[in-house]
Amino acid sequence: LHKDEEEKPPASSAAQKVKIGIYFATWWSLNVVFNIYNKKVLNAFPYPWLTSTLSLAMGSLIMLVSWATRIAEAPKTDFDFWKALAPVAVAHTIGHVAATVSMSKVAVSFTHIIKSAEPAFSVLVSRFFLGETFPVPVYLSLLPIIGGCGLAAMTELNFNMIGFMGAMISNLAFVFRNIFSKKGMKGKSVSGMNYYACLSILSLIILTPFAIAMEGPKLWAAGWQQAVTDIGPSFVWWLAAQSIFYHLYNQVSYMSLDEISPLTFSVGNTMKRISVIVSSIIIFHTPVRPVNALGAAIAILGTFLYSQAKQ
Ligand code: 3PG
Repeated sequence: LHKDEEEKPPASSAAQKVKIGIYFATWWSLNVVFNIYNKKVLNAFPYPWLTSTLSLAMGSLIMLVSWATRIAEAPKTDFDFWKALAPVAVAHTIGHVAATVSMSKVAVSFTHIIKSAEPAFSVLVSRFFLGETFPVPVYLSLLPIIGGCGLAAMTELNFNMIGFMGAMISNLAFVFRNIFSKKGMKGKSVSGMNYYACLSILSLIILTPFAIAMEGPKLWAAGWQQAVTDIGPSFVWWLAAQSIFYHLYNQVSYMSLDEISPLTFSVGNTMKRISVIVSSIIIFHTPVRPVNALGAAIAILGTFLYSQAKQ
């Protein structure tokens, strides 16, 4: 190799970096829009079990239509694929509905501050359930994550236990989802986009009966009437927007998971939360005390230390 050939990264690796950069920017922007419409909907219509079901229903519909019209090629799946997907779907359903319940009770920023502790859950689950051990700096990085989230939670002006627990349950469920889906996607023939589509369909089937049991058509009808009276026809557009953007951001995140390691993914996910926290505080005029912001900053800094220690 010539010297200059050695030093310049190959064109394909530069192109790959641009591609991943585009995925990340798209993923975060779609997520910010989702979070804003999701909260607007929940403020007017506090039925998180239904709204989380509708998000999955919209994603399933988009993908079924894309397959039928051949915009996207339908995956070839067998029974074993769906069997391996089942635990992922259970975890995805729990994580999704728990996060939505959380956001129906507390500020979006608070849910995401607690959700920035997901890497800490990942280490604890891997340590205690899978018997994995980590270098000491990884454990040390959990201190600022847990301490920062604890400080933010203790000083949150509108603290609510259901909101807090929902975000914690979501963290735990998503760690299991990631562990199971890493196994399920290994050596797979299904692309990230189609994998997420199948996940939406199976999660929708799992969640629907629970949504009916937890809330049900009676409450939904009364709530709908009230929301349309209060907001007007825009309410239906908000609902459509939150459902469409939920599917799109998740689809893009699974597409990027095809290209990057789970560790890069989780760092990207935490950086995503910074944009959600900041934009939702601005848009919803969320009151934040300095000590509260300090807690969030410590937790997020901890996540970066964690990613460094893990590398
Ligand atoms: C959901 O509704 O599933 C959550 O908002 C998802 O949270 P996350 O994708 O930001 O982890």
